[in-house]
Amino acid sequence: MGINNRVALVTGSASGMGKQAALRMAENGAAVVINDIDQGRVDSTVAEFTQRGLRAIGAVADISNREAVEGMVQKTVSEFGRIDILVNNAGLDRGGPLRKISEADWDIVLDVNLKGAFLCSQAVHGHMVENKHGRIINIASRAWLGGVGQSSYSSAKAGLVGLTRTLGLELSKNGITSNCIAPGLIHTPMLDTLPAEDLKALLAMHPSGRLGEVDDIADAVLFFADDDSGFVNAQVLYVCGGRSLFAG
Ligand SMILES: NC(=O)c1ccc[n+]([C@@H]2O[C@H](COP(=O)([O-])OP(=O)(O)OC[C@H]3O[C@@H](n4cnc5c(N)ncnc54)[C@H](O)[C@@H]3O)[C@@H](O)[C@H]2O)c1
Repeated sequence: MGINNRVALVTGSASGMGKQAALRMAENGAAVVINDIDQGRVDSTVAEFTQRGLRAIGAVADISNREAVEGMVQKTVSEFGRIDILVNNAGLDRGGPLRKISEADWDIVLDVNLKGAFLCSQAVHGHMVENKHGRIINIASRAWLGGVGQSSYSSAKAGLVGLTRTLGLELSKNGITSNCIAPGLIHTPMLDTLPAEDLKALLAMHPSGRLGEVDDIADAVLFFADDDSGFVNAQVLYVCGGRSLFAG
C-alpha cells in the first residue's frame, strides 16, 4: 500500500495544487520531479523540499513543447531510474466571452492544458509499460462541464477528460491507470487572476460556500497514485464541494 519509493513527475508544481501534491507524495516516500516554466521558482521549490529531507529534483520545461518534455522525462529516468506517477497539473485560464476571446488565447489554453498533458503522457508511457506499472493523473476542472466565458478553458478540460478515459482503455493491460480530478474553486495563486466580483459570484454558486484547499486535491492525487488503486481506472473524481451538480 502507498507510494513509497515511487517516482512522481508533477507538471506545474512550483505553485498551487501541483506543489502541494508533490509535497504530499514526497512526504509519503516518493521521489518527485518539480516541473515548471520558471527556473527561479523551480529551484526554490526543490530547495524547500530537500531542506525537509525529501527527495526532489527540478526540471524546467514548457510542457507544450515536445523537445522540452522529452528532455524532462529523460532527466527523470536518468536521475531516478524510472517513472511511476505522472500528474498532468500545469494549466492556465485565459477566458472571456466568445466574442472577445482571441485566437492566441485559445491556442495557449489548449496547448498547455490539453496538448501538454498529451505530450507528457506520450513521453512517459513507454517507461511505464516497461515496468508494468503506472499512474497518470490529470487535473481537469469542474469547468469541463461548461461555464459562461470559459469556452477555451472548458474545451481544453473536456478534452483532458476524453484523453483520461481513452488512455485508461489503451494502457490498462500494462498495469497503468489513467484518472482525472475535476476541482471546483481551489485556493491557489491561479484565482488571483479573477476579478474580485467574479470570484464572489462564483463562490455564491458553491454549495459549500467556501473555497477548496490544496490539500483537498492532494488527498485525491494520493488516492489515485497509490499502489492499491490499480483497479480504479478511467474515472473523473469531482473535488468541488458539490458544485458539479449545478450548471453554468
Ligand atoms: N485553482 C482553481 O480553482 C482550479 C480549479 C479547477 C482546476 N484547476 C486546475 O488545476 C491546475 C493547477 O492550478 P493552480 O490553481 O494550482 O494554478 P497555479 O497557477 O498556482 O499553478 C499552475 C502552474 O502551472 C505552471 N505552468 C503554466 N504553463 C506551463 C507550461 N507551459 N509548462 C509548465 N508549467 C506551466 C505555472 O507556471 C504555475 O506554476 C491547473 O491545471 C488548473 O487549470 C484550478
